[in-house]
Formats: sequence, C-alpha cells, structure tokens
Amino acid sequence: MLAKVSKNFFLFVSNNKWLNHAAKKWGFSFGASQVVAGDNIEVALKKIKELNDKGLLCTLDHLGEFVSNKEEALAATRSVVQTLKSISDVKVKSHVSVKLTQLGLDIDYQFCLKNMHEILAIATRTNNFVTIDMEDYSHCQQSLDILRDLRKDYDNVGTVIQSYLYRAVQDIKDLQGVHLRLVKGAYKESPEVAYQEKNRIDSNFRIIIQEHLSSGSYTAIATHDDQIVDYVKQWVKEQEISKDQFEFQMLYGFRNQLQSDLVKEGYTVRVYVPFGTDWFGYFMRRLAERPQNISFAIKGFFSK
Ligand code: FDA
Repeated sequence: MLAKVSKNFFLFVSNNKWLNHAAKKWGFSFGASQVVAGDNIEVALKKIKELNDKGLLCTLDHLGEFVSNKEEALAATRSVVQTLKSISDVKVKSHVSVKLTQLGLDIDYQFCLKNMHEILAIATRTNNFVTIDMEDYSHCQQSLDILRDLRKDYDNVGTVIQSYLYRAVQDIKDLQGVHLRLVKGAYKESPEVAYQEKNRIDSNFRIIIQEHLSSGSYTAIATHDDQIVDYVKQWVKEQEISKDQFEFQMLYGFRNQLQSDLVKEGYTVRVYVPFGTDWFGYFMRRLAERPQNISFAIKGFFSK
C-alpha cells in the first residue's frame, strides 16, 4: 500500500513541468549524481571510458523533457548529433538513446521525423546505433510509426517495447528483425491499456523476451531484476541461443556488481548512461520504480 502511494507520488512529481524546470537551476540534488553521469558530455564520456575499461558497453542519453517549441527541439537534435560525433572522436563504445518528445514529437510529426533523419545520417556515418526510448502510452503509436518510417532508410535504429502494455506481444510480432530493447515500463498507465499487477507484467516480459529471441532478432533485455536475468540465462541455454544474439542492459548506478558478474560470465552488458542538467523527471521515475532507491535521495539530501 505504502509502496503504491510512493510510486504514484514520484510518478506525479516526475511529470510536473515547474519542478522539472526549477531543478535545472538547483544542480544535482538528492543524490541524483549517483544515477546521472554528469551535467555535460565531457564528464559523461569519461565515465563511459571507465565503464568500457570494465568490459561494459554503453548507450548515452542527453536528458531532456517537456520540449514545447521548435527551437528547443532543434537544440536537442544538435546535441544528439554532437554526442554522436564526440563518441566517434573519443572512440568510446557507446550507442545513443533518444526521446522523441525531446526532438519535437509533440510539436509536429514530420518535424520530429526530419530531426531523426539528421541524427541517423550522422549515426550511419559514424557507424553507430540509435535507440528510441519509449515514453508514455500517448506517444507509443507515433513512436512506432516514426520507427517504421525511419527503417525504410536506416537499419541502425530500434526502439523499446514495454511489457506492461497489452499491445506488447503484437508489437513484438510486427517488429521481427528489429534490434529492440525490452523493458517492463516506467510510466503510470491506466488499466485500459496496461497490466497493473507485477506478476502479470513479469510474465508478459518473459513472453516478449521469448518471442523476440525465438524469431532470431537481436534482443536487449533491460532489467535489474535477478529473477528475469536468471530466467533469461536458463532459457537461452535450453534453446541453444547464442550469447551474440542478446545483451543485458542496466541503468547507470544500478546493480554494479551484477553488471560486472555478467561480464565475467561472458554476457554482453550495456549501461544506459544519462547526462545533462534536466535530471529531475528521470530521477523521480527511478524513485518510483523502487522505493529502496529513496536511500540515494536521503543520503544525497544529507550530504549536500
Ligand atoms: P523491478 O523494478 O520490477 O524490480 C524487480 C526486482 O528486481 C526487485 O524486487 C528487486 O528484487 C530487484 N531489483 C530491482 N532494482 C534493484 C536494485 N537497484 N538493486 C537491487 N535489486 C533490484 N522504461 C520505459 O518505459 N521506457 C524506456 O525506454 C526504458 N528504457 C530503459 C533502459 C534501461 C537500460 C533500463 C534498465 C530500464 C529502462 N526502462 C524504460 C525502465 C523499465 O521500464 C523499468 O521501469 C525499470 O527497469 C525497473 O524494472 P526492473 O525490471 O529493473 O525491475
């Protein structure tokens, strides 16, 4: 009961525009620096280099939410382009993750698509891969439409499927052959569109993992959940699925020991590394997922 109240509270504040804007001026607070790699690209690239040295691959995300005009969306597009160039210049092993609302999806579909074309042109030139993060349900269909449009020209782009959505299994079937990240889902969704109970979200997670791997498609399993990780390890062994066909993904600052244990066991592990000053919404969603993460916030609050 308490967990549900705190989850709803953190998801509610994560969506508050005023707090998101205000937080940019506070600098990292409440321990956010433990889960956000830095406020600028140089610092983030240094962290990525350290992770690469431990055998971990990365995907870099320039944080940004609530983009409401074309100038902001163009600035975000330029930042992703610059991020791709920096990754290539510094020669770290990192993909890039983007959010379509940051690139203008709420402003105009064609404008957002054009921005993604610009990003993918550079990603192609620098031999890199871009994952479109999946946001809340109201953006799901449009995000998949943009992916479909982009894949007419590029194969170095994929997206995320959330197992809490009823539509997830059908989406997986429609996206055979696409490099996908599979997750449970981080937003507050209504029972009209999404499972609410953990056991149903978990069992749908197992179903979509099986479905995508069985179709021979490359699959990123993004979770911190030991039970899912152990299940995947066991199931791929039974099915004789090669370790080259999938990877585990975890968020920066979470389950560091598990990340390195998996690398030692020969699995590919990719760390999602967020950076930038727009940390508030991202951090609040992490607190919503796991009340224990509040210890970051409490430690951070007292150490300020
Ligand atoms: P969950 O939170 O369900 O926890 C299950 C169990 O795992 C816990 O009970 C505990 O035993 C263990 N556990 C979890 N966290 C732990 C920790 N820190 N320490 C110790 N044990 C822990 N969502 C989305 O909607 N769109 C997206 O694009 C993405 N992208 C994304 C990328 C990556 C790389 C990751 C890892 C996650 C996302 N997500 C996401 C978030 C995702 O949807 C989900 O909300 C979180 O990963 C939380 O779910 P988990 O599967 O990690 O475990």
